Amino acid sequence: MTARPRLTVIGTGYLGATHAICMAVMGFEVLGVDVDTSKIEKLTAGEVPFFEPGLPELLAKALESGRLRFTSDFREAAAFGDVHFLCVGTPQQADSEAADLRYVDAAVTSLAPHLTRRTLVVGKSTVPVGTAARLAELLRTTAPAGDQVELAWNPEFLREGFAVDDTMKPDRLVFGVTSAWAQEQLRAAFGPVIAQDVPVKVTDLQTAELVKVAANSFLATKISYINAMAEVCEATGADVHDLAEALAYDERIGGKFLRPGLGFGGGCLPKDIRAFAHRAEELGVGQAVGFLREIDGINRRRRARTVDLVVELCAGDVAGKRVAALGAAFKPNSDDIRDAPALDVAATLHRMGAVVTVFDPAALDNARRVHPELGYATSALDAARDADVVVLLTEWNEFREISPSAMAAVVRRTRIVDGRHALVPAHWAAAGWDYRALGRPAVHGSVHGSARS
Ligand code: UDX
Repeated sequence: MTARPRLTVIGTGYLGATHAICMAVMGFEVLGVDVDTSKIEKLTAGEVPFFEPGLPELLAKALESGRLRFTSDFREAAAFGDVHFLCVGTPQQADSEAADLRYVDAAVTSLAPHLTRRTLVVGKSTVPVGTAARLAELLRTTAPAGDQVELAWNPEFLREGFAVDDTMKPDRLVFGVTSAWAQEQLRAAFGPVIAQDVPVKVTDLQTAELVKVAANSFLATKISYINAMAEVCEATGADVHDLAEALAYDERIGGKFLRPGLGFGGGCLPKDIRAFAHRAEELGVGQAVGFLREIDGINRRRRARTVDLVVELCAGDVAGKRVAALGAAFKPNSDDIRDAPALDVAATLHRMGAVVTVFDPAALDNARRVHPELGYATSALDAARDADVVVLLTEWNEFREISPSAMAAVVRRTRIVDGRHALVPAHWAAAGWDYRALGRPAVHGSVHGSARS
């Protein structure tokens, strides 16, 4: 095998496309593989099928270098690659909390019959612990090269919006391996990353699988912890924003992932904690992570409480009221609306009879497709026109920069719910707004009513 192994990346969704592009930019020959030919066509034409800052420029660079190509042909992939990365999705099953492994299984069963020489298959997808051992056996028994085909696990921790940096220079690399040879291949495949002094943790397959779900569970727990404190603050008149800041000075606690508000969403944290709790129950250790159900419950209650705040501001009834919803994506710098708290709140208010108009800088097309019943605007001010209440649901920077007085001039009533603690309450109150945020005392506008009422 060459010092620089040739890589395939199976699955060109969010994780796979980013991994394939970054690896090619770092100097590897890479073949991206996907059964979805429309994705292959787009990527081959230089188009990234999702929103990720910096990635389109890197795709152009990688294609121009001639080191990155795409295919739907597993035979070609097997002939090309020394190391094959599995990057397919593991969504939540439609009728259960368990992870749906059909795409992982399909990738392995499509590739295995073509593996005729010594090869390493590397799982990156987030899977229930025990999956890697099963896939290793599947590869061994179905690949013509048999024992010569090894499986390793290399969990991926990239965050949407920071995917390029997180791939090029991650906090750590985790290699779950069963042989020195597999470790050697992984070290070669990540040579340029390791050269930047990125720490490498080598372990067994099952620990590597667990690192990912343990990390995401910890992050979700931290967010729900501060949001649980917000619930207590609401009952006492205390301010969770100040509380979080005061906690963050303790380096043992730290301020990251301690931002209170509407809570977590997206394609990873919610489904990963549910799948983990489910898997632990299957293994007979459900009690050990039973708290994850509570973490999920606290997170869901934040959405309901945000809706309540809007209803409170509308004197108990939102029917017929115009609501401006600022944000649709599950977080800023993303067009991803999977399990997005923002859209959940907007859709609930619509079901309660409110006339909801949504604006998001990147996720409007996705939101419109899934929620055609909502109204959509082309700017924050446009969404706020004649609104009875404005609700900030995703903390895009451009929302932080909104002029309270400019927005006051277009709304019907100056009432705002800051679902993400993104605004400075005093600025809004000074422009006449009644400001409400989860876990914070209400701030009343110094000039009551709106400029127009
Ligand atoms: C997450 C993990 O961070 C990443 O390591 C893993 O690989 C995939 O899942 P991502 O889903 O991109 O990444 O989003 P992240 O930045 O973690 O945010 C998740 C959610 O938590 C967002 O909805 C965000 O708004 C929310 N959040 C985050 C908070 O509510 N408060 C915080 O303090 C931090």
